[in-house]
Amino acid sequence: MTGPRVVLVGPMGAGKSTVAEVLGEAWGLEVRDTDQDIVAAQGRSVQDIFVDDGEAHFRELEVAAVAKALDEHHGVLALGGGAVLDPRTREALAGHRVVFLRVGLAEAVKRVGLGTGRPLLLGNVRARVKALLDERTPVYESVARLTVDTDERTPQQVAEEIMEAL
Ligand code: S3P
Repeated sequence: MTGPRVVLVGPMGAGKSTVAEVLGEAWGLEVRDTDQDIVAAQGRSVQDIFVDDGEAHFRELEVAAVAKALDEHHGVLALGGGAVLDPRTREALAGHRVVFLRVGLAEAVKRVGLGTGRPLLLGNVRARVKALLDERTPVYESVARLTVDTDERTPQQVAEEIMEAL
């Protein structure tokens, strides 16, 4: 199967964007991010899409953005944290080199900070992150070929482990 060299999945705060940049640099490949694709196509932020049109609308945009990127991108691809929730996306990921970047609750909360720009974290950040990790970890594991721990490790160390394994 062609498509991206690697697809990074995992929750907010797992370091998908940073690790994608390190891998892209090391491999000399372009990096693409489905959140950025959606923002560029819509001309507004993820937060604004959630507020104006609701999460369900964002998820439809996301299914299409992931399908398009899987089809046309051959570099490193990072998906938004909730992309794997849609069964159409999970199906589209089958056969791709999917890596789940795992992060523990304390580290994820530290990395997302106040949750700025992340509509799903409004309110109690720790409780929201915990609920998302509990709900989604089995889903990330189900689509991933490789799981890499990111707690107490630099993006470079995470990227090296991916490069050794894939
Ligand atoms: C989301 C994660 C975000 C973004 C949106 C929803 C989620 O992407 O797609 O705010 O449902 O986990 P990142 O994981 O890149 O922050």
